[in-house]
Amino acid sequence: MLRIAVLVSGGGTNLQAILDAIDSGKITNAEVVGVLSNNPNAYALERARKHGIEAVCVSPRDYPTRAAFEEAYLAQTESWTPGLVVLAGCMVVIPEKMVNAFKNRMINIHPALIPSFCGKGYYGLHVHEKVLERGVRVTGATVHFVDIGTDTGPIILQKAVYVQEGDTPEILQRRVMEQAEWKIMPEAINLIANGRVSVEDGKVKISNYTFGEI
Ligand code: GRF
Repeated sequence: MLRIAVLVSGGGTNLQAILDAIDSGKITNAEVVGVLSNNPNAYALERARKHGIEAVCVSPRDYPTRAAFEEAYLAQTESWTPGLVVLAGCMVVIPEKMVNAFKNRMINIHPALIPSFCGKGYYGLHVHEKVLERGVRVTGATVHFVDIGTDTGPIILQKAVYVQEGDTPEILQRRVMEQAEWKIMPEAINLIANGRVSVEDGKVKISNYTFGEI
């Protein structure tokens, strides 16, 4: 059974998609053993508690230095002995020591088709603002392994979403979450939990998989 720790910062809709997928059997051989937020007001913590899952806040404001916060944040994550760490709407810049502690065992959801609209400054609504500003017709979401760069780790799954006339950043964000994020995150976790994902020469291999079907 794959033990999963989920790191959050906000509303927790991706966490909810994971919990619902486990409950419905779309994800097998996995359990969420803990949810960690850097933000005490994250509704994601409430979603975890409603599901009977340990929900902890480790906030930078409670530590004298950034290094002290990062140590506590890593220690709390490791306390759950997770086989997989999932960044689901997590706004914390994961320190190198923590990335290295979970090499190819930490995944992130980015609300764009990497390598487009990603990297420093591209998070949350800012991503969709830039997508609309550029006038692209297709955007989407990406699930990738986390490495020491920003949105640069090996790509696991992606799903495209069309931009529509009249889209605002908020409308587009919601569509990308509904049509892409909430589908590819659970799918990626299920594939990992069932031993079908590997990384060879910096590229992800998924056994017996047809892309584009979800
Ligand atoms: C999502 O678009 C996610 O990709 C981004 O933050 C938004 C909210 O995520 N990182 P959630 O509802 O907290 O899962």
